[in-house]
Amino acid sequence: MHDKNFVEGFSKLNKQQKIDWLVEHYFSGNAHARVLLERYWHTDTDIQSLHEGFIENTLTNYWLPYAVAPNFLINGQTYAVPMVTEESSVVAAAAKAAKFWYPFGGFRAQVLGTTKLGHIHLLFHGPKEKLQHFFEQTREEFLRRLKPFTENMEKRGGGILSVELDDWTHRLDNYYTLTFRFDTADSMGANFINTILEEWADYMEEAYPAYGHPDELEIIMRILSNHNPGCRVRVTVEADETALARKTGINDYARRFETAVKIARVNPYRAVTHNKGIMNGIDAVVLATGNDFRAVEAGAHAFAASGGEYKSLSFVERENGKFVFGLEIPLAVGTVGGMTRLHPLAGLSMELLGNPGAGQLMQITGAVGLAQNFSAIHSLITEGIQTGHMRMHLNNILAQLGATPAEAEQLRTQFANRKAHVRAVKDALNQLRNKD
Ligand code: MEV
Repeated sequence: MHDKNFVEGFSKLNKQQKIDWLVEHYFSGNAHARVLLERYWHTDTDIQSLHEGFIENTLTNYWLPYAVAPNFLINGQTYAVPMVTEESSVVAAAAKAAKFWYPFGGFRAQVLGTTKLGHIHLLFHGPKEKLQHFFEQTREEFLRRLKPFTENMEKRGGGILSVELDDWTHRLDNYYTLTFRFDTADSMGANFINTILEEWADYMEEAYPAYGHPDELEIIMRILSNHNPGCRVRVTVEADETALARKTGINDYARRFETAVKIARVNPYRAVTHNKGIMNGIDAVVLATGNDFRAVEAGAHAFAASGGEYKSLSFVERENGKFVFGLEIPLAVGTVGGMTRLHPLAGLSMELLGNPGAGQLMQITGAVGLAQNFSAIHSLITEGIQTGHMRMHLNNILAQLGATPAEAEQLRTQFANRKAHVRAVKDALNQLRNKD
């Protein structure tokens, strides 16, 4: 028996029918819900239909702010970096850190590698030597057969770098992988990688009967990996400790900062929050450039835990009065293909960044992650995060309380140096209204 809200063929309804159905079943016929969904449609029908094509069952658009953080000096070039996020203090924090480090020469960023991985996950019900023999006998031929799929990527400087057989039988009976290493040039490469893996797996199934009983080889999955430690960027900022003390007005600033980072390297509870702060910046750039933030998130956290313990992605080095703050993070991002060009605002972001290659985008994104982490730690070891956070959050509270522009201005002045908790703002607004 199906519940009254079970629906068959929902995807075949048109948008209006879908909304009608939802309003009736989930909003008790509340016309307000319909109005809200329709209000967020784009008036430009081209843009609206583009958005509707991205995913299934689109009803409306969910808007997020698109902002820029200027003054990012990275490897000698100054960028205004596009960021998409809903968190009120994130862009301000990035911009503040960018400005802080500008006079120290900004961010130095280096791509440590661009290798991405993909696997054919298989069970082999026979001796390992037989699988090894099959793999070695067919590898060159399969690589040749894949030429029509790899030719274009090779022209762009990418392609399949290697294929190896890995034995996982110590973890799971009969389990092996074919591990592929790829360079996908300026694309994120998901489609390219998955196509290659699926083709190769088909070739294996087709060819195996000449080597043994077809049931011996059981392909389970073929999919790229989002754990790509070989596609990694390193970003650093550095300054003399005396200059830092002068700029911050805190004598032992470098030591306190280093201790905060050390805490995030030994205490996983702190490390997760610390890395979340880094991802505040990374995700915002990844989103603004039409890249896959879930892939980047998953990969970053896997890398943070790759030593067997979850750790801070950033580090501090102090030597001879020099303070170096840095970040190493895997970033599988692209600047061609997929959403990066399909979403007009992602295209605009690329233009704003000077149409970077994937490596350059890795450097920019990494710099914003480090900047974000710097601002968070700076606040945490000084005034705490609530003052700045609440200042930004005040606008949200004022909107929530329905303050008029004139009231909002007065309250912003009132709360310039006070913590803007909802209760306090509400009381102040009431007082203001009673006075008038
Ligand atoms: C809030 O979104 C991020 C922070 O918690 C990060 C941190 O604690 O390092 C401020």
